[in-house]
Amino acid sequence: MDFSYRMQTQIEFGDGRAAKLADDLSLLFKPGESLMVVTDPGVLQTGMFEPLLQMLHKARYQVALFSDVKPNPRDEDCLRGAALMREQNVSAVVAVGGGSAMDTAKTIALLGRSGGVPREYADGERLYEEVAPIICLPTTAGTGSEVTRSAVITEHATHRKMTLKHERLRPTLAILDPLLTRSVPPSVTAATGVDALVHAIEGATCRLSTPLSRAFGEQAMQLIVPSLRRAVACGEDLDARRAMLEGSLLAGLSFGSTDVAAVHCLAEALGGLYDTPHGVANAVFLPSVLHFNAEAYPVLHARLARVMNFASTADSDQLAVAKLLDGIRAWTAELGIPKLRDLASVRVEDFEHLADLAFQNGSTKSNVRPVTREDYQTLLDETYQWT
Ligand SMILES: [Fe+2]
Repeated sequence: MDFSYRMQTQIEFGDGRAAKLADDLSLLFKPGESLMVVTDPGVLQTGMFEPLLQMLHKARYQVALFSDVKPNPRDEDCLRGAALMREQNVSAVVAVGGGSAMDTAKTIALLGRSGGVPREYADGERLYEEVAPIICLPTTAGTGSEVTRSAVITEHATHRKMTLKHERLRPTLAILDPLLTRSVPPSVTAATGVDALVHAIEGATCRLSTPLSRAFGEQAMQLIVPSLRRAVACGEDLDARRAMLEGSLLAGLSFGSTDVAAVHCLAEALGGLYDTPHGVANAVFLPSVLHFNAEAYPVLHARLARVMNFASTADSDQLAVAKLLDGIRAWTAELGIPKLRDLASVRVEDFEHLADLAFQNGSTKSNVRPVTREDYQTLLDETYQWT
């Protein structure tokens, strides 16, 4: 098949690499220019944040700080950030945080330069005319947003999760420093890590998959499955943190050029309605969607089972698929991820609405097996019944 791959983000990876941020910025911006730093309240309180801020001040940049980032980032917060960006005449947006901070930063960089509201871009009513340069320093290993061209934003009034997607939303520079991820607590490490695995699986298997998305995705799977347990068990395990950040980067390079699929469609519906953390929502639906997809594509899923080391080459495809489904369920349980029925806010009465939301998601058509609204309803029911 024909394919194309585009990725203009400069990637810098290394222990302590964030300490050179000012040097990187000096190649792009003059002293005295104004930079907006976008972070979340949690990162703001960690010991790593203040030195970064001091570094920017020392390099004589004007800093506009925006820390009003929610776990499922909202359109209204992005609009406030964009107003601040225009007010302070900001040259670039620097995100220090997880996927929510990075997606908020991307959207602010867009709205601050091109105006409008996120929904207009998600619905194709407005052009992505100009976006301020975006620099990302991820503090979680999960989203891959530091190298993707998309941002997922919730329309607060309707609870709808919208995907803004354009080449101009791809960051100029991604600085991946495993030391920044050490302070992430176990539950967040687990949830964001499962999100990264889902990116790898969906990027490698969706209908838009390419040889490159499969190569990146499969390598990501091999790194993430064994490392995540270790990073959750011991946050100071730097080898595990490094492997996870590398894995989430590769997963971002995989789905960032293709798409996500049905797991994300269900997860985004859940997250939009109940504010469920994105990684938890993904983890909840991963086994049932894998089961659904494997029924139609057993050979593909047997391969995934072997890549992730849940099965060996000696196993038949049928046995490998069974081991994949058991292995993934055991893996998420071991990581302490709750089940759908254990999430306090979830109500069975909402399943029809959730199925509608999932079906309306633009990534539904990318799922390897065609999926209907009724399939989503069945997947929700099945996932809820699993104990
Ligand atoms: Fe995701």
